[in-house]
Amino acid sequence: MAQRVVRPKTNLGPGFWPITVLIVVVSAIMVYFTETSDWPIGLVPAGDPAGSIDALFRFLGSVAACIFNIVVIYTIYFAIVFRRPKNAPPNTIGVQIHDAPVLEFWWTAIPTILVVILSIYSVKIWHDLQNTQGDVLTVEAIGYQFGFQYRYPKLANPVSGDMHLPVNTPTTIHVTSRDVIHGFWLPEFRMKADMVPGLINTYRITPNRVGTYRIICSEFCGIAHSQMRARLIVDSQQDFAKWFAGQGGAQAAGGGGAAGAAVALSSGSASAGQALFGQKCSMCHSVGGFDQKIVGPGLGHIFNDPAHPKLVNNTAPTPQDVAAIIHNGYSGDIGTMPSAQVNGLSNTDIANLVAYLVSLSKK
Ligand code: CUA
Repeated sequence: MAQRVVRPKTNLGPGFWPITVLIVVVSAIMVYFTETSDWPIGLVPAGDPAGSIDALFRFLGSVAACIFNIVVIYTIYFAIVFRRPKNAPPNTIGVQIHDAPVLEFWWTAIPTILVVILSIYSVKIWHDLQNTQGDVLTVEAIGYQFGFQYRYPKLANPVSGDMHLPVNTPTTIHVTSRDVIHGFWLPEFRMKADMVPGLINTYRITPNRVGTYRIICSEFCGIAHSQMRARLIVDSQQDFAKWFAGQGGAQAAGGGGAAGAAVALSSGSASAGQALFGQKCSMCHSVGGFDQKIVGPGLGHIFNDPAHPKLVNNTAPTPQDVAAIIHNGYSGDIGTMPSAQVNGLSNTDIANLVAYLVSLSKK
């Protein structure tokens, strides 16, 4: 038979208040060091949003330190103070407390308030990251096995290897992949996004320190995943302008728009296009009518569909205009298709695909 050791309910033991003061003091010291250290140690903050993410991280660390102290120190204290008395039988149990509404209210209310504060704080930072309005520069980062390419506005050719960004410039980065899933991790900016073929993930950063930082693939993507690293070089405005001009930025500035018009279509092979369509397009497009959508519309009758006399970008359904959409990609109400560059399509591939689509519309 269990013998009860009955204590008055309000008895918290002889050392409860001194121990509580100890918890407050230890917690205050830990919060002080958490908030004033350069935690997370070893990661230089190279620009926004590193500062706000570090602040959130330190806040989490401070709250966690307080909870740790409360739980661990009180547990040790009560285990010692209310241990089984020496002369009590071995099957003695402690006081069984049921229905303590005041206690239950507070242990529900305090964690709820904490979680709500953390949620609001996190969502606010997330909103700032995603709010790309007013950004000065937009760069596409494209992963492939095993490296990174970058496309800059007004640069005809993609840049491989190192990524350059000008300092103090709010920059939107569109992240995608050409083959398998990679990760685009900028540890010095605390930002990471998956690079997924056919999908564009977006985040924004504002570098505020000139220097060289790391770009790391953070998804296992094949045999050379561990070598899939590059450098992000943050230049002064002048150095960036120099580098940009060196990449052909100046002379390409007037071009752009009608790039698809340069694709020579006459040599396209419908049978080669059919094979390629099966590999590259059929995940998202059927060869049925426009309404037979998978992700994008069906492409079986794009050249002779009375219900859709125009292409999705409102141009006439000519082979050259279709080639332009495949080349440039498309983004609109019905969805987003990455550019030929991202999809890994050469100009010959585009000519073959257009030849195949023309042959479908003739059937
Ligand atoms: Cu790309 Cu790992």
